Amino acid sequence: MGTRIYLRAIEREDAHLFVTWLNDSDVNRTLLTSRPINLPYELDWVEKSYHREHDITLGIALKETDQLIGSTGLHKLDYRNRHAMFGILIGEKSEWNKGYGTEATALTVKYAFETLNLNRVWLHVYEHNARGIKAYEKAGFRQEGVLRQDSYREGRYWNTITMAILREEWDALK
Ligand SMILES: CC(C)(COP(=O)(O)OP(=O)(O)OC[C@H]1O[C@@H](n2cnc3c(N)ncnc32)[C@H](O)[C@@H]1OP(=O)(O)O)[C@@H](O)C(=O)NCCC(=O)NCCS
Repeated sequence: MGTRIYLRAIEREDAHLFVTWLNDSDVNRTLLTSRPINLPYELDWVEKSYHREHDITLGIALKETDQLIGSTGLHKLDYRNRHAMFGILIGEKSEWNKGYGTEATALTVKYAFETLNLNRVWLHVYEHNARGIKAYEKAGFRQEGVLRQDSYREGRYWNTITMAILREEWDALK
């Protein structure tokens, strides 16, 4: 539970929101995987997500209204090396730049370290996602490296930036 948001399970009833969000080019231009999706696809994804051992995706909801504004998750969970890949989507564009992304990132990282007992949370972000990079830095992630010309979209190649936060860095921030 954060100060203005909380994380909760994603329900089948939420699927239509994700269809709208994920098909919005303003939203998906900075997502690592994006292709047009429909409601049956999303419903199937939600159903299967409950059973995935190496992925956890949670909805981001506003405390004040209970409105769902997006999702956050830990993927490629590696229990031996104790790390996972972080991902986030705030689908409601009107809610961008209000600090919710930073707060959801911090909540997810806290869950990773204090509940799942992970040691490292990493992520990949496109170089053109300045908003995302800023939010991750505010939540304590550090840039580690650049994957040159890693992705092709909008007619050109883009670099991908790798970022991570370690458990010891999280502890020092508290
Ligand atoms: C990326 C995302 C999660 C960020 O969430 P958010 O709630 O908008 O982010 P926050 O408000 O917490 O922080 C954004 C920061 O970036 C800043 N920012 C916004 N646009 C910027 C730009 N073009 N250049 C630099 N900084 C920018 C904001 O001012 C804010 O910093 P501040 O609090 O110091 O003013 C959200 O915008 C989103 O889901 N986008 C679409 C999907 C996506 O990109 N997912 C992540 C894939 S890696």
